[in-house]
Amino acid sequence: MKREAEARLFWRPGGKRPDRRALESELEAEGVSVHFNPHASLSLAQQRRRLPIFDDRRALLFAIEKFATTVVVGHTGCGKTTQLPQYLHEAGWTDHAHLVACTQPRRLAATSVAARVALEMGCELGAEVGYAVRFDEVWDAARTRIKYMTDGMLTRELLSDPLLTRYSVVIVDEAHERSVHTDVLLGLLKRVQLRRPELRLVIASATVDAEAFRDFFERSAAAEEPSATIISLHGSGNHPVKWHFTQTAVPDYVRYAVETVLELHARRGGGDVLVFLTGQQEVEAAVAMLHDAHTPGKLLPLPLFSGLSTDAQLAVFESAPRGVRKVVVATNIAETSLTIEGIVYVVDCGFTKQRFFNPRSGVEALVVTPEPQASARQRAGRAGRTRPGEYYLLMPESSFHSLAADAVPEMQRCSLAAVLLQLKALGIDDVLRFEFMSPPPPENLACALEQLYALGAIDREGKLTPRLGERMCQLPLEPPLARALLAAEEHSCVAEMLGIAAMLSGQSAFRQMKPADLAVARAPFAVYEGDAITTLNVLRKYVRKSAAVSAQRCTGWCRKHLLNQKVLQRAVRVRAQLAAHLRRLGVKETRAEDAPSLGGTTGTDAIRRALAAGFFAQAATASAGAGRYRRVHGGGELRLHLNSVLYKAPPDCLIYHETVVSEHELILAATKIDIEWLAEVAPHFYEMRHAAT
Ligand code: CDP
Ligand code: MG
Repeated sequence: MKREAEARLFWRPGGKRPDRRALESELEAEGVSVHFNPHASLSLAQQRRRLPIFDDRRALLFAIEKFATTVVVGHTGCGKTTQLPQYLHEAGWTDHAHLVACTQPRRLAATSVAARVALEMGCELGAEVGYAVRFDEVWDAARTRIKYMTDGMLTRELLSDPLLTRYSVVIVDEAHERSVHTDVLLGLLKRVQLRRPELRLVIASATVDAEAFRDFFERSAAAEEPSATIISLHGSGNHPVKWHFTQTAVPDYVRYAVETVLELHARRGGGDVLVFLTGQQEVEAAVAMLHDAHTPGKLLPLPLFSGLSTDAQLAVFESAPRGVRKVVVATNIAETSLTIEGIVYVVDCGFTKQRFFNPRSGVEALVVTPEPQASARQRAGRAGRTRPGEYYLLMPESSFHSLAADAVPEMQRCSLAAVLLQLKALGIDDVLRFEFMSPPPPENLACALEQLYALGAIDREGKLTPRLGERMCQLPLEPPLARALLAAEEHSCVAEMLGIAAMLSGQSAFRQMKPADLAVARAPFAVYEGDAITTLNVLRKYVRKSAAVSAQRCTGWCRKHLLNQKVLQRAVRVRAQLAAHLRRLGVKETRAEDAPSLGGTTGTDAIRRALAAGFFAQAATASAGAGRYRRVHGGGELRLHLNSVLYKAPPDCLIYHETVVSEHELILAATKIDIEWLAEVAPHFYEMRHAAT
């Protein structure tokens, strides 16, 4: 690969304001191939040069040339994500056979940042700059040089390209978040580097704990030449941010957050507001409340969460019209991975939603927990980007001081079944000796192995089974759903399970609304067998409708039924992709004989049995009290969420697909099953468990 001399790569503007033509020729003279297109505005190039990271460009390129691994530390918004790949591209690290990959823990970060960089480079998204996230890839094998992708996608690529020969540099971005996929990727990249020393790694982090990353990648402490280094970016720090606490604990933080916004809107000067809540539902509820509020000045509330449609995302980044105050209500996606300009006030509920795994029950759940102090500081920092800001943390100061200092890496608190399956697919059989940056608790590893064994994915020696295990890792789904899809082959209901898998891997198809309204909207689709079959009915009716009527009438139909058409369109695409995967695996798209009933007769046994074959570990039986359940193994009480179709008529036994924990653990989506099926689909699991308890 041709690399230009380092000195020629560096370009520093003079003090004057150059016009575009001058800028272009200046750049050309320096040998820097910034891809100006005639329509790209000069101001974008100027914006690039004004970012704090620009001053460190020479040092960065030098370090990446010299060291196998470079850890880059710089505060959010300084330009790591958008600029690093471009600098490398401009410096000749890319060609037709070598790309720069930049991985993100979140889909939305990968797609939105790719769009931004395409804009800066004056190219079409999917040409020189593209992205790849699960079920959605916009890049071109011949043209793409910079590829933004989720860390899970790059890990998946290792299956077909174990040495990542397609890439000259891999940037692992947002490494401080320590998502489970990031951590797995870091461990795998370390192995790749042993066999491909020329591969350059850049670990980008927004917090200062860089030594841990460097030490992890340092090949040997005894070596004369270090192989890893740290670069702390200079540049403007944030402006000061004034902190506000509450007098007492806040009972309902969504409502309180809304009241705080209205209060500061009424009393404070201009500047946009960023509100942190824990999840999509809360975000949408708060946005609705802000819409309903009558305020003297103009207020523009906008939601921001992963899985938001592209248009809605764009709205968040656009500046509000004059005289209007923008209020972005976000999940913690806005904590570090996305920068929104113009934020002066931050309102923080003080909580965050995290995955937690309970090795006793073998199940993981999303739990709303107090955020660590590190998160609060990050969120506060969002207020001081453009000028001094204010931060409203919705808890008393004493509560803040009793928060944990840092977050526990996700690796240590999530289910490891998917991770272990992936490692095994990559030929790493001895997973207990895999080098994780933060080794997970041994009981979580043991539990994951046991689950994979019960799913039939591995044998007693821990090797992937050819019929199930090897095929499960080809599917881009969590192990239970992958297993259910393969089980559908035995139960001759592959077509139906494809629809369910597509729907379960996306957002809810119904627009956000109160549970009572949801029950009404869902009534035409609802079946007593549960949420999976209900959601399948929604998809089927939508597909039938869209084939039968004009696009316009189909949109009207979605509106009438309060359905989110974007979600359904995506489900159709996801379904097609999963179907293609199955065809490659030689699985025929069989159909259950009886279509799922809408009235009450059972035609869905086959589908529900196949689902049970994947989700058997998440089985629960009714206990005393309406809507209350007890886990079949591991114990523990669960309750049906108001939003589950089963809430009205709770069955004796169910398997659940999704739970959320607040005060209680609540089942969001579930399917009615017969308890006898459990012993049929997972004899070892239930035998072992019954013997043990
Ligand atoms: O990764 P890091 O937090 O260091 O910064 P970045 O995401 O590369 O963003 C650098 C700058 O680009 C931000 O300060 C924004 O001004 C701008 N940006 C933008 O305007 N629109 C985007 N979609 C992304 C970034
Ligand atoms: Mg970034």
